[in-house]
Amino acid sequence: MVQGYCIDVFLAAIKLLPYAVPYKFILFGDGHKNPNYAELVNMITSNVFDAAVGDIAIVTNRTKIVDFTQPYAESGLVIVAPVKKLRSNAWAFLRPFTPLMWGVTAAFFLTVGVVVWILEHRINDEFRGPPKKQIITILWFSFSTMFFSHRENTVSTLGRLVLIIWLFVVLIINSSYTASLTSILTVQQLSSPVKGIDSLITSNEPIGYQIGSFAENYLIEELNVAKSRLIALGSPEAYRTALEKGTVAAVVDERPYVEIFLSDYCRFQIVGQEFTKSGWGFAFPRDSPLAIDMSTAILTLSENGDLQKIHDKWLNKRGCGSQSSQNQSDQLQLQSFWGLFLICGIACLLALIIYLCLMLRQFSQHYTDSSEPSRHGSSRSARLQKFLSFADEREEIWKSESKRKRMEMLSRANERELESMDGSKRVADICHEKYNVDT
Ligand code: GLY
Repeated sequence: MVQGYCIDVFLAAIKLLPYAVPYKFILFGDGHKNPNYAELVNMITSNVFDAAVGDIAIVTNRTKIVDFTQPYAESGLVIVAPVKKLRSNAWAFLRPFTPLMWGVTAAFFLTVGVVVWILEHRINDEFRGPPKKQIITILWFSFSTMFFSHRENTVSTLGRLVLIIWLFVVLIINSSYTASLTSILTVQQLSSPVKGIDSLITSNEPIGYQIGSFAENYLIEELNVAKSRLIALGSPEAYRTALEKGTVAAVVDERPYVEIFLSDYCRFQIVGQEFTKSGWGFAFPRDSPLAIDMSTAILTLSENGDLQKIHDKWLNKRGCGSQSSQNQSDQLQLQSFWGLFLICGIACLLALIIYLCLMLRQFSQHYTDSSEPSRHGSSRSARLQKFLSFADEREEIWKSESKRKRMEMLSRANERELESMDGSKRVADICHEKYNVDT
């Protein structure tokens, strides 16, 4: 008696052929050890078998020597690794963000606080005072925006612009943090040191694979994994023992086998994504018309739902293995937010540049208007100091000083005009007297 999932698919498909095909199953392998699938395929080319019916993955090396039917089952390599439950602890609130995300968020809170302080300092009494008080104001203002509870009013247009953009960023960050923290605290978290194929390759840990499977070749030839790291395992029990004892860090195998394995062993999980896409098909000699007719039959089985029924009969084992773990999916990465930070950073930078340009213009106007001779000959550092104290001055003081200077200059100009008018009158009188003497 030969039976199983692949045999049922084969029998259902062959019944759909418009002609009778006599067949006889010949077992391959000793019934205990996993046979080599590549060898099985080779035996078709060497005419030992007329065809191969089984869970044979359709891979390039094999399609070069035999013809496959359409795949009757989806397959693909996945990684299975031991996982442990992450208990919620006092620091669970830090888990929604990666350390980098926390760092950049804190840096932006401070940056926005400093930028708003610069923009408001000259015109807003709430951002003035002794240096210590101003530092506290910056810190308090920036971190209170986290809860939209800042009490300092922003009065400058640029300050308001920066703040409104920043509050939008804070809104998104807050809601993402809340959603992620909720899922961390409510959904069972599973963690594994292996996060996916990349971390597995770079870890240099031993990797298990199914004896006889194409996975061995794929790992060596496509992923450049050293052969010495690969450990052949022959049964689900061998997988369990190797994973439990740490003989292998993870096992790489096709998804259908892994799903059956996980339905019995709940302490392991699929980690990362499926990293190859393939399927299982029946192999026939090159140019065999049976490969085409069986493909048509398999498609018919797929369309009428019989293929799914056979799959459910043999492979739909219920268990804990159906939940695949996405260890990293709950952590919010900087990648998801850099756009927001970029917008906010550009807004801060533009506001500062505009503000600096306006101040430089005011400063040069102020000192061009100034008539004090000592100011013209001042050194670069003295000029910088003057600029800094000008930047620190309240704008109204500067405006009233400018106004006072303009008034002074105006009155001085008037005086000079009067004096010159006086002078010309005296000259006119002298001329008049001289004229009288002459005549
Ligand atoms: N399903 C294992 C292989 O085809 O190599």
